Amino acid sequence: MRLIHLTLFSLFVICIDGKRRCLTNCTITGLIGEPFNISDRCDQYTKANDCKVEVEFNYYDQRYTVIFSTAFVDYNYRSLYITITGFLLYRATFACGNSDNCATDFARKKVVDLSNRMINTGSVIKQLRPLLSEQRQSPLQCYDNEECTGICKIRIKTDKNQLDQRKCDEMSEPRVRVLDGSVPILDIECNRTKCNSFETVDQVKQILYQHNLTDINGRINRGQKNSISTLLLPILIILFIQLI
Ligand SMILES: *[C@@H]1O[C@H](CO)[C@@H](O)[C@H](O)[C@H]1NC(C)=O
Ligand SMILES: *[C@@H]1O[C@H](CO)[C@@H](O)[C@H](O)[C@H]1NC(C)=O
Ligand SMILES: *[C@@H]1O[C@H](CO)[C@@H](O)[C@H](O)[C@H]1NC(C)=O
Ligand SMILES: *[C@@H]1O[C@H](CO)[C@@H](O)[C@H](O)[C@H]1NC(C)=O
Repeated sequence: MRLIHLTLFSLFVICIDGKRRCLTNCTITGLIGEPFNISDRCDQYTKANDCKVEVEFNYYDQRYTVIFSTAFVDYNYRSLYITITGFLLYRATFACGNSDNCATDFARKKVVDLSNRMINTGSVIKQLRPLLSEQRQSPLQCYDNEECTGICKIRIKTDKNQLDQRKCDEMSEPRVRVLDGSVPILDIECNRTKCNSFETVDQVKQILYQHNLTDINGRINRGQKNSISTLLLPILIILFIQLI
């Protein structure tokens, strides 16, 4: 349903407004804390429904990457990926059609905001490690599956605090993944006896919250919907229907 709305909205925008002029085929990398410039090498523009940008902060090697491209519909996703080997990655993916500069403006603001945020990666991982791993001689045991040759997994839908998946998953590494956007989830893979429990979920949420990585429910900025399009959408759809 939402996709239909978005498609109608995009069609409407094309009818009324033409397309956006978006920066494309452009990747910028910098050190966290370093200001953000759109270099001279980024000089390709293209017409599209939406301009898109992906901002990725890698706290492991203290670098950020910004990638500009195009999209068909609006979206606003965030994700967090943490492994007990020291990797902590934050990514925001944003696509917008309200102005030619909306994606570059978003990226500038995001890079400044994230650069100003102190994230103690060492402390986050030190606290997560005992929840996600253990020294063990015996085979791994997970919930809802007696013996596991892979790794225990639990996935929660964080908007409803509802269990989505709990099983023994294929071999992977202990990690925490948070997604926010249309389907907000918290996904934990762990290598500790019966660690795919609600207790682990609560403890992981607590750690992410304490370090300002998510709110207490495991959401990242509550998905930050685009307020303009949700407000204008019904009006625009009615106008659009009357036009055809
Ligand atoms: C993208 O840019 C690179 C250099 O910045 C260039 O070599 C490449 O051909 C470009 N790709 C397209 C599809 O324009
Ligand atoms: C942006 O430009 C400033 C000033 O020229 C420079 O100090 C900074 O390192 C540049 N940032 C990146 C990411 O290249
Ligand atoms: C899981 O833990 C066991 C026992 O500590 C270890 O031998 C194994 O390599 C670990 N597996 C992964 C995928 O981390
Ligand atoms: C979390 O953010 C709040 C407000 O932005 C700040 O006051 C607090 O010091 C931060 N906590 C940590 C652990 O960074």
